[in-house]
Amino acid sequence: MKTLLLSLLLALLATGSSAVTFTLKNNCPYPIWPGTLSGKGTPQLPSTGFELPPGQTYQLPVPPQWSGRLWARTLCATDRTGKFVCATADCASGQVACNGAGAIPPATLVELTLGSSTGKDFFDISLVDGYNIQVSVVPTGQGCSSTSCPVNVNSRCPPELALLGSDGAVLACKSACLAFNQPQYCCSGAYASPETCHPTNYSMIFKNACPQAYSYAFDDKSSTFTCNSGGDYNIIFCP
Ligand SMILES: *[C@@H]1O[C@H](CO)[C@@H](O)[C@H](O)[C@H]1NC(C)=O
Repeated sequence: MKTLLLSLLLALLATGSSAVTFTLKNNCPYPIWPGTLSGKGTPQLPSTGFELPPGQTYQLPVPPQWSGRLWARTLCATDRTGKFVCATADCASGQVACNGAGAIPPATLVELTLGSSTGKDFFDISLVDGYNIQVSVVPTGQGCSSTSCPVNVNSRCPPELALLGSDGAVLACKSACLAFNQPQYCCSGAYASPETCHPTNYSMIFKNACPQAYSYAFDDKSSTFTCNSGGDYNIIFCP
């Protein structure tokens, strides 16, 4: 009997069925609608979009080997034609679920790769596509450090990068690449390498606000964080 139980347990472990859990928490004083997008060739998570009222948490099971991104939409509503739309980080699916569609920038992105062949997870916060909300990523596993962008970049956003609401409030802050579409800001063309693409006065606004986050495509390695695989993650909006 003991050996049977043991072999059952070993079989369970071998199939890697011990899923990782992402616990998303909304510490903002307003509702958010997180979205998830799996990387190419990997199945979407059980939820690709849902509402998260202030103060609430949502647990999302994730396969032990997974790669993808998460973000939070804000100021969402169903319009008169029945379409679900958001003022920031919309995924344009027309529904609360994003169903394989990504965030329309500007959007603060949480990027994770779990269960790499070296037994490590890699994760980062990216403001390369702009900023719409504060977030922190807190792993619960061993040998991990957390990363955070706790500062409201909207309040420091220069007017030429600002995404404005109808009342003139800054809802999100575009990257210079998104606002001006020039190679020196997008790290494209003659600037398509780490040697030629450098921080700019615009990327520095994001870097100064959130030093742990990626501020442009070739931002230094200090923006990528690692953790031993198998642990869970707390992802907190407005930490
Ligand atoms: C950044 O630099 C550009 C080009 O030199 C200049 O036109 C712009 O006003 C500067 N913006 C800020 C926010 O410093």
